[in-house]
Amino acid sequence: MQWRASRSRRTIFHRVQSLPFGMTTPSPRKIIIAIDGPAGAGKSTIASRLARKLGYVNLESGAMYRALALKAIEWDVSFDDELALVQLAHNSRIQIEPSLGGNRVLLDGRDVSRRVREPDVTEAASRVSVHPGVRQWMVARQQEMGAGGGVVMEGRDIGTKVFPTAEVKIFLDADPVVREQRRLQQQNVQGAAAQAIAAELRERDRRDRTRASSPLVPAADALLLDSTKLSEDEVLRRVEELVQRKLSS
Ligand code: DC
Repeated sequence: MQWRASRSRRTIFHRVQSLPFGMTTPSPRKIIIAIDGPAGAGKSTIASRLARKLGYVNLESGAMYRALALKAIEWDVSFDDELALVQLAHNSRIQIEPSLGGNRVLLDGRDVSRRVREPDVTEAASRVSVHPGVRQWMVARQQEMGAGGGVVMEGRDIGTKVFPTAEVKIFLDADPVVREQRRLQQQNVQGAAAQAIAAELRERDRRDRTRASSPLVPAADALLLDSTKLSEDEVLRRVEELVQRKLSS
């Protein structure tokens, strides 16, 4: 297995993220914060702002599925071939490097941060992530990365499968139409292209919520936040409130 998530690397990440800007209430206790929810609910922005304020590491678990999906594209491995995908994962080095500008994604040492955001990889990531074997591999890697605490990890199954005992669990959702609009605005598309992107987003949502293995569902003890009518600042305020309550309990 070529995966590496060494302690020393994590220590470096902590140092990078601990720069003293906008830090709220420093606490010696480093907890795990899980933020789950569908695409377009605002997870990434909230996770990265929160991590920055707390001096925590922000880990985007979806980027790991994206990196494996890219490798499957490049190696011409079928998105339906679970065994081949698991084998591919074992033979890959997927690194997520939190930095101030967001997560840097390295695949076998190559920076693929931009490439993994492209539509073909987005679609492929959704397809490779349905397989239990792939998920098992990903979950084990993600658990290694977050084991020391001081981490905000975002995804679809962080509160239910990766860290079911996380001290703070948030499930961030929003009206599907609003989520679609946010995505289209981010990508600055209109007309027929927008229709196609919206349809793809709905399909990925359906796949995430209905897959047999770890479907997207809120953990029983998650704080459910609907960001449809809330500003980003308001969502962050509510999440921070919960974090501070946990840190002082
Ligand atoms: O969050 P994202 O859009 O970058 O995720 C890419 C894909 O990976 C998405 O289709 C769902 C999947 N995913 C998952 O199944 N479990 C996670 N913890 C994170 C992402």
